[in-house]
Amino acid sequence: MLVSIAMGTAIAFITTIASTPTKRSRSPVSHGDPNWLLSPFRNPNFTTKRSPKSPSPSTTPMRAYASSAIGAANEALDASSPGLIGANDLLIVGPGVLGRLVAEKWREDHLGCQIFGQTMTSDHHDELINIGINPSLKGTKATNKFPYVVFCAPPSRTPDYLGDVREAASSWSGEGSFLFTSSSAPYDCNDNGPCDEDSPVVPIGRSPRIDVLLRTENAVLESGGCVLRLAGLYKADRGAHMYWLKKGIVDSRPDHIINLIHYEDAATLLVAILKKKLRGQIFLGCDNHPLSRQEVMDIVSRSGKFSKKFEGFTGTDDPLGKKLNNTKTREEIGWEPKYSSFAQFFEVSE
Ligand SMILES: NC(=O)c1ccc[n+]([C@@H]2O[C@H](COP(=O)([O-])OP(=O)(O)OC[C@H]3O[C@@H](n4cnc5c(N)ncnc54)[C@H](OP(=O)(O)O)[C@@H]3O)[C@@H](O)[C@H]2O)c1
Repeated sequence: MLVSIAMGTAIAFITTIASTPTKRSRSPVSHGDPNWLLSPFRNPNFTTKRSPKSPSPSTTPMRAYASSAIGAANEALDASSPGLIGANDLLIVGPGVLGRLVAEKWREDHLGCQIFGQTMTSDHHDELINIGINPSLKGTKATNKFPYVVFCAPPSRTPDYLGDVREAASSWSGEGSFLFTSSSAPYDCNDNGPCDEDSPVVPIGRSPRIDVLLRTENAVLESGGCVLRLAGLYKADRGAHMYWLKKGIVDSRPDHIINLIHYEDAATLLVAILKKKLRGQIFLGCDNHPLSRQEVMDIVSRSGKFSKKFEGFTGTDDPLGKKLNNTKTREEIGWEPKYSSFAQFFEVSE
């Protein structure tokens, strides 16, 4: 049963997005992945062009498979068959780096469940099938609704992010959970100061990119779904550090504080939230170990894991960042990250 946030569900961290009073800042886009909204860090294996073999979304039926064993040659069934979707089946809109980790962790806890993945193109459908995710294209008319739906596609490749997320919400049955992965960018802090789940967000109208996120978050909350605002995602070969390393010289100030969370930890947090079946709450995903840009690249250099040398940050007057703390999320969800800091992941002392 879908419970709307207006119905008085316990709302621990809900942020009144449109009406929150805030102070002004010059550049509100400030999380660990500096140009995340422009998506410069997409997996190089993920091309943005539509594959010539990609069928049009309107002609591709959602397929469901008889078995969800990874790599099994499953027999395709029509997804409209009654009783096909089980109580623990999961739809992942955007089964990219994070989405695939979520699939892996969800399956560990729900043996035999079916996992469906909705993508922009069919470019990676074979890969998805090989890891036991039943792929379909965004825009495909879904005949089934799913008890668990996760939206983890970035805003960078669609002119209508809100519409895409609404479409995902309409695929949710209202049982289980619906979770949208947002960003910590909306928090209105640009002086390297503290920031947590309850901090004010940028007012609507200041930044078109943040407006899209906030409006989308609001639509999710109104549908009874939850929002997870993530800090900059990283793994060894992906994240802000790789973007900076590739550039060599970066025209941003070195003392800007960024916030991070390892992809695996973001996935375990996401799964833990999904399993709680909560309604209309906003959570924050970060490792509680904010670092300056310079500190991040010092760790990269000391790790000895990269042959390329980073030359430096040259900015002097661009905005500062924020120091995220998600103690409330940890307490409510009962979650801790495996990698408590970027330095710990790279086995470097700070
Ligand atoms: N990266 C960060 O630092 C960061 C920070 C804060 C929040 N986030 C959020 O974290 C989530 C996961 O990030 P990620 O790095 O794992 O993403 P990712 O790997 O770039 O995700 C790519 C996947 O999303 C699909 N996709 C892209 N646009 C779509 C759309 N409009 N509708 C449906 N599918 C779409 C792609 O389809 P194809 O297979 O066709 O390419 C692919 O399956 C995203 O929601 C992102 O906004 C990221």
